[in-house]
Amino acid sequence: MNPDQLGTRLPTLAGEGLQLRWLTEADLPSLQAIFADPQVVRYMATEPLGTRAAAEQYLQSIREGFLEGSLYQWGIELEGEIIGTCTLAAIDRQNRHAQIGFALKRDCWGRGLILKAVPAVIEFAFKRLQSHRIGADADPRNVASIRVLEKLGFQREGLLRECYFHMGEIQDALLFGLLQRDWFAAAGHRNDGSQSVKPVD
Ligand SMILES: CC(C)(COP(=O)(O)OP(=O)(O)OC[C@H]1O[C@@H](n2cnc3c(N)ncnc32)[C@H](O)[C@@H]1OP(=O)(O)O)[C@@H](O)C(=O)NCCC(=O)NCCS
Repeated sequence: MNPDQLGTRLPTLAGEGLQLRWLTEADLPSLQAIFADPQVVRYMATEPLGTRAAAEQYLQSIREGFLEGSLYQWGIELEGEIIGTCTLAAIDRQNRHAQIGFALKRDCWGRGLILKAVPAVIEFAFKRLQSHRIGADADPRNVASIRVLEKLGFQREGLLRECYFHMGEIQDALLFGLLQRDWFAAAGHRNDGSQSVKPVD
C-alpha cells in the first residue's frame, strides 16, 4: 500500500500546456521509444530499453516504486502523447528528501518543454510530500540538464568523481540541491508549505 495515501496511482499534475500522469500499459510503446535511444539514457541510471520486455519490466519497477513509496515517476503528456517522464526517486520521509530526474524523447529537446513540466513535480514534493530538499545529479557534460536545474533554482553543491559506470564508461556527477524555502521564496509562494497540491483529477 502506498505510504503517502495516494491510493492506487499517482495523481495527474498540471504543467504549462501539458500534464503529468500515471503511466499505463498503453504507454509502453512511448516509453520504449523514449528510453531505447542511447542519447536519452547516456547520462541516466537506465540502460536503453531495447525490447518490449525491457519496457514492461521498467513499467513494473515504476509500479513497485509507487507501492513502496520510494519512486514516483510521471509520464509527461503533450497533445495526447507521452513525450517523457519526470521522477522523484530515493524518497526519504525521515529526512524529507527526494532526488529528481527527467527525460524527454529526443525530438522534443530544445523547445523548453521540460521547464513546463518539472515545476509541477517539485511542487508535489514540497507541498504534498512536505519534502525539505530535492537533490539532483548531472554528468558535467550534460549541459542541457545542468542548465535546466540551474534555471529551476538548484544550486551546485559538489562533484562526485567517477561514481558511476554506465554505458561502458566511468562518469562523474555534479550534485545539485533545491531547498523548499528557496523554491517558495523564488516563486513568491507562502513559505509555510501548508497548501496541498491541486491535482487535475
Ligand atoms: C535534459 C533535458 C530533459 C532538457 O530538456 P529540454 O526541454 O530539451 O531543455 P531546454 O530546451 O529547456 O534546454 C535547456 C537549456 O540547455 C541548453 N542546451 C541544450 N543542449 C545544449 C548543449 N549541447 N550545449 C549548450 N547548451 C545546451 C539550451 O540552449 C537551453 O538553455 P537556454 O534555455 O538558456 O536556451 C533533455 O535534454 C533530455 O531529455 N536529456 C536526456 C535525459 C537526461 O539527460 N536527463 C537528465 C538527467 S536526470
